[in-house]
Amino acid sequence: MKIIIKNIDCLVTCAGSHKKTKEDMKDAKIIENGFVVVEEDKIKAVGRGEDYKNYLDSFTEVIDGKGKTVTPGLIDPHTHLVYGGSREKELSLKLQNVGYIEILKRGGGILSTVRETRKASFEELYKSAKARLDLMLLHGTTSVESKSGYGLDFDTEIKMLEVNKKLNEDHAVDVYSTYLGAHAVPKEYENKREEYIDFMINKVIPYVAQNNLAEFIDCFCEKGVYTTKEAEKILNFGREKGLGIKIHADEVESIAAAELAGKLKATSAEHLVAASEDGIKALASNEVVAVLLPCTSFYLRLNKFAKGRDMIDKGVTVALATDCNPGTSPTESMQEVMTFACFGMGMLPEEIINAMTINAAFAINKEKKIGSIEVGKKADICVFNSKNLDYLIYHFGVNAIDIVVKDGKIVVRK
Ligand code: NIG
Ligand code: FE
Repeated sequence: MKIIIKNIDCLVTCAGSHKKTKEDMKDAKIIENGFVVVEEDKIKAVGRGEDYKNYLDSFTEVIDGKGKTVTPGLIDPHTHLVYGGSREKELSLKLQNVGYIEILKRGGGILSTVRETRKASFEELYKSAKARLDLMLLHGTTSVESKSGYGLDFDTEIKMLEVNKKLNEDHAVDVYSTYLGAHAVPKEYENKREEYIDFMINKVIPYVAQNNLAEFIDCFCEKGVYTTKEAEKILNFGREKGLGIKIHADEVESIAAAELAGKLKATSAEHLVAASEDGIKALASNEVVAVLLPCTSFYLRLNKFAKGRDMIDKGVTVALATDCNPGTSPTESMQEVMTFACFGMGMLPEEIINAMTINAAFAINKEKKIGSIEVGKKADICVFNSKNLDYLIYHFGVNAIDIVVKDGKIVVRK
């Protein structure tokens, strides 16, 4: 099966498979009047004008790209896709200005989702996560990272990671797993947090690594959650077992978690709303990808966003993600993230699309396979009903997807 998308008004290739920052990030390698040829599950050719005709045969589906913007499939490199229940009841607390960490201390927040997730069966978790993954695909996401962290006990954490694995097998969207046992300290370990850390190190991490249930390890390194010292111990142990390092870093207050990400040469540091100047320098000089989550800042009513603009100007490789989760960012849509990245952080359209494709691929170590429209890469492609890239960001609050191609097959068609 061959697909040719021809006469594309705005073909955004995001080509150049290297971490993009500074001026480079402002260039999304756009081709006007472009075309893409897809054969089997790969991109066979990319070009301009009429040359697509060389690839035509009777087995080819031809799509007209007039009036469309075509981009690489969107990559969401930070989600909490699998969980039980929902948290709409926290809305009124939020409106009374009860803070996020305060809600957590009262047994709400993450811990209330932990209770719901422990109660849910594998099938229930699978079904609700699949529904979210369906929505993601409808909005143009073709690859996601998905964290555990709402079980905290052995069985539920493993169950969550098994759900990720089965979704990856069954669903068109590719799902990459992260073990986030250090998302909170579970109630039953309230006054013995060292024991919980030992339990992760001695029991859970070795099992996760041996059974290939995750590629990454993550830790919520934040005042009131895990200290930098604890995070370093947990993450280093994960690395010893072969897992890549991610950190939920300085989301609400700076405790030098961004600096720690630099020191550990983590794959990515995520959130970073409160990251210090030194933290930002450490990310830049150690080439740690900053995964920014502007929908979360909006939803937490933080009145501030991560310094995306500043980070790019200072040489940090910035990626963007939904943080899809039941508490601080209940959305599946990377198009929603586009809006807040632009209006909250001052990122430009070309920076935004680089941040959701090639830079996001680097945040999950998949840059050789996905993240740009280049010959030989996976044929994961979005066709948007937008006449140019600026229009895609400018016209907000609606789903602009026309077609999604995943692994060379049309999986969404409006
Ligand atoms: O990325 N910050 C920590 N974890 C999630 C929120 C989880 C929750 O509130 O359920 C986040 O925002
Ligand atoms: Fe998160």
